[in-house]
Amino acid sequence: MKERLFLAQNTKNKIDDGKTTWSSPSNIALVKYWGKRDKQIPENASVSFTLNNCKTITTLTYSKKEDNSTFSFDVFLDGNKQDDFKPKIETFFKRITSYLSFLKDFHFKIETENTFPHSSGIASSASGMSALSACLMAIDKELNPEMSADFILKKTSFLARLGSGSACRSLEGDLVVWGTHNSIPESTNLFGVKFPFNTHNNFKNYQDTILLVDKGEKQVSSTIGHNLMHNHPFAQQRFTQANQNLEKITEILQNGNLDEFIALVESEALTLHAMMMTSMPYFILMKPNTLEIINKIWAFRKATNSKVCFTLDAGANVHVLYPEKEKNTVLQFIKNELVAYCQNGHYICDNIGKGLEQL
Ligand code: PMV
Repeated sequence: MKERLFLAQNTKNKIDDGKTTWSSPSNIALVKYWGKRDKQIPENASVSFTLNNCKTITTLTYSKKEDNSTFSFDVFLDGNKQDDFKPKIETFFKRITSYLSFLKDFHFKIETENTFPHSSGIASSASGMSALSACLMAIDKELNPEMSADFILKKTSFLARLGSGSACRSLEGDLVVWGTHNSIPESTNLFGVKFPFNTHNNFKNYQDTILLVDKGEKQVSSTIGHNLMHNHPFAQQRFTQANQNLEKITEILQNGNLDEFIALVESEALTLHAMMMTSMPYFILMKPNTLEIINKIWAFRKATNSKVCFTLDAGANVHVLYPEKEKNTVLQFIKNELVAYCQNGHYICDNIGKGLEQL
């Protein structure tokens, strides 16, 4: 599919005002995206579990305005005006302006809330940008009612990607692939596609308990981190490895081999952080408690043969992943041994979800 298919069309209908509300979840990558080219094109393909409980709910209220030379919008988080969100949204609107005809025709009120604490250190950009893209596509559909549901889903993911790369993987469950890859038919750098094969029962309703190790603002944003992959001494090997891992995990997700799953997923997490540590300038996002938790998980696995494992995103928090049938034992282990390493004892129980929802 070509980018130009998403360009704004001459609109058929006229609308003056309206309101639309969407909820969209966060996602957790198993094979990580780290490094991009211009226009949010990933350097390698990635795959993620869509989450269920960590969501952003966004209501977009729109009203026609006279002057259509500039963008006009206000942003509210939990009912409070949030002017510090405006530059990111302004950049997003500029990037997507050739794909939506109406962005300068309306004044927008963007009201957003997260089901997880704002200060949890959980990336809200994936859920936030995908929820906002879904709201904008609802307007696009009103103006162009003949668009198919499939096209709308692709364009929503395409727009979300331009807001925050990984956001394009949040619209559908259970697993979404983003990035052109030989093993995944229809895969593309432009938007996320549902993992196209049958997933083994072992991965049905997989659990993700997010241990909140550090709820503070990250010292290095993912935008800066991605940019440090330019001229990174190990970049090319990393992109090759990620694409090979995607090929391997495509098999594992179908054959249900949990030991291979664990080895691949943990290696991906540590490699992501190794890329950060070997950037110039170098940085470390893990905290001492991140390592304490990893060692505890390894010890528990050795002692019990559990199939629990961990992954990390660009921060200190630990995502503890495990099959549904181990839910009780692993939760007990978390309460007994891992909660002590969480800031204020906080953690969030999540599992695989279905993606976007209109409310
Ligand atoms: O979508 P961004 O630009 O915030 O980058 C996300 C990168 C990771 O979360 C670290 C990995 C991934 O694939 O989600």
